[in-house]
Amino acid sequence: MKGLSFISAFFGPALLKSQANAVNVTRPCTASTFSDVSLRGGEILQVSTAVISNYSAPLTAQSLNQYPEAVVGLNACEANITYTHPGQNDTITASIWLPLKWNDRMMGIGGGGWMTGYYFALPWPAAKGYVAVMTDGGHVLSESNNWGLKSPGNVDWVLLNDFASIAVDDAATLAKAATKTFYGESPKFAYFNGCSTGGRQGYMLAQRYPQQYDGILATAPGINWDRMILGLLHPQVVMNEKKIYVPLCEIDAFSAVAVAACDGDDGVKDGFILEPSTCKFDPTTVIGQAYNCSTGPSGRLTAEGATIVTAAWSSVKTVDGDLISGRPLSYGPSIGAPLLGVANTACTSTNSSSTTCTAAPLGVSLEWIKYYLAKDEAFDFSTLTRRQYDTLYRQSINQYSSVMGTSDPDLTDFKQGGGKLLTWHGLNDQLLNPKNTIEYWERVKEQDPEIDDYYRLFEAPGTLHCSPGNGWFPGDAMDSLVQWVEEKIAPEQLRAKTVGLEKERTVDLCKWPAKLKFVGGDADFAESYTCV
Ligand SMILES: *[C@@H]1O[C@H](CO)[C@@H](O)[C@H](O)[C@H]1NC(C)=O
Ligand SMILES: *[C@@H]1O[C@H](CO)[C@@H](O)[C@H](O)[C@H]1NC(C)=O
Ligand SMILES: *[C@@H]1O[C@H](CO)[C@@H](O)[C@H](O)[C@H]1NC(C)=O
Ligand SMILES: *[C@@H]1O[C@H](CO)[C@@H](O)[C@H](O)[C@H]1NC(C)=O
Ligand SMILES: *[C@@H]1O[C@H](CO)[C@@H](O)[C@H](O)[C@H]1NC(C)=O
Ligand SMILES: *[C@@H]1O[C@H](CO)[C@@H](O)[C@H](O)[C@H]1NC(C)=O
Repeated sequence: MKGLSFISAFFGPALLKSQANAVNVTRPCTASTFSDVSLRGGEILQVSTAVISNYSAPLTAQSLNQYPEAVVGLNACEANITYTHPGQNDTITASIWLPLKWNDRMMGIGGGGWMTGYYFALPWPAAKGYVAVMTDGGHVLSESNNWGLKSPGNVDWVLLNDFASIAVDDAATLAKAATKTFYGESPKFAYFNGCSTGGRQGYMLAQRYPQQYDGILATAPGINWDRMILGLLHPQVVMNEKKIYVPLCEIDAFSAVAVAACDGDDGVKDGFILEPSTCKFDPTTVIGQAYNCSTGPSGRLTAEGATIVTAAWSSVKTVDGDLISGRPLSYGPSIGAPLLGVANTACTSTNSSSTTCTAAPLGVSLEWIKYYLAKDEAFDFSTLTRRQYDTLYRQSINQYSSVMGTSDPDLTDFKQGGGKLLTWHGLNDQLLNPKNTIEYWERVKEQDPEIDDYYRLFEAPGTLHCSPGNGWFPGDAMDSLVQWVEEKIAPEQLRAKTVGLEKERTVDLCKWPAKLKFVGGDADFAESYTCV
């Protein structure tokens, strides 16, 4: 305290001036301020505003792609702009937070699962000075889908297109217009920030609306959606086909044995595999080994369990072994990644060895089949055969790759416009294998060897889907992107650290295709690693 007042006595006035940005001159936070905002192809139905005064949120509040950070004393104007695309009968609301201390930038916030945008993620960027925008995409803000069908047999194509691309583009247009009217100036720079569905949206923006954003931070992106989303069901299809349902606890035990087998290969025993693709672990070799469950009885690893984890870790091919242009249909999670997303089961009891289990397919993938492929709310997954699964893949690709695939490798316009696309992907991602992203990167690189000028991809060992887990989490990635866009300093490595663990570990993540390698020394420090 004493030191602090000493410093402020000497440097106080200067420090105060640079820290506390003068509050910008703004128009009143009322609907009429935004009455001139318009949208091509859209008709504004309503604007509602709210004064956000002295808003604070705790450390634990979600801050997308960032280290947890509290929001303190934010003053902003919230404008909800509700509109329709005339003739389409949709009703979409974009929510915009305009901070009174503005940094001249705008940030679009992506969604997750079936959510087109995360409302809860607006305060963090607004507190940093960004105008922040998200959209509800015209449907209820929920990770699950109850809006896919107009009627049995009939997909709601309008809402699907709004979710896939159109509402995300609209939100950027509306936020820019609202910025101009509120402060009298347009944003100097626009950034997008999203993970998973939000990551896919970032790629969609780069591919289809290349002028909207100067910088796109799109992490663990759900691209190749039409194939990837079905791939997440592969272990579940194998369960039904072979009628074997293994408690998750045993599946987790297989993962733990695999991690124990390969963890040390990289020179560091730290609870995760630095480079899972080099782990040659055969689950059939540990059948019969005893394991303990934290949530259930101890037991012995079974042949059935080995079959399911093998299915979970494999890439998916059709029954006939067909590949699409030499590539698998989709990829399972890496060895060592948690398998609760793809290989979950629902069991009658967690504490009895006589428990009976059934397949527990991932909601978002099951809903994809129900609403968009079978077009039947009552679709029964348990009767799906392997052959029918292949048929669904073909249908998914044929009907939806241009809508949801987000796999166009031609980023020429984004590049020409000076845009930058920054991606990281956790190697322990329990849903999307980084290979799904790497496949896209390679396809872009085939088209344009100068990919490095505008698109960079970083692997984050140990890191989960959109969250740190035990791995290194690059929570400063947005700052690196801003530096790339505004100062032309492109990130060669991404500083990352563990979050919430007993001991903080730091590393500089490597730019794909380079791999992180331990070179000796203290495994908790970035200096002990290199990129090869
Ligand atoms: C808003 O205030 C910040 C900090 O004082 C300043 O950098 C920025 O240029 C201002 N913007 C406008 C439009 O006045
Ligand atoms: C804006 O929309 C959000 C999300 O639906 C809602 O929580 C908030 O209350 C709305 N604010 C106003 C001013 O309508
Ligand atoms: C802002 O809120 C904090 C508590 O969250 C309170 O201590 C402070 O007095 C408030 N400031 C103003 C200007 O209202
Ligand atoms: C438009 O949507 C509303 C519900 O949002 C519905 O009640 C109405 O029937 C729809 N109109 C048409 C022409 O589909
Ligand atoms: C399981 O727990 C028991 C009792 O705590 C212990 O003796 C045994 O070694 C454990 N087995 C494994 C495989 O961890
Ligand atoms: C086992 O689980 C059942 C419910 O699934 C519960 O009623 C019972 O108390 C549990 N027994 C023990 C010993 O935990």
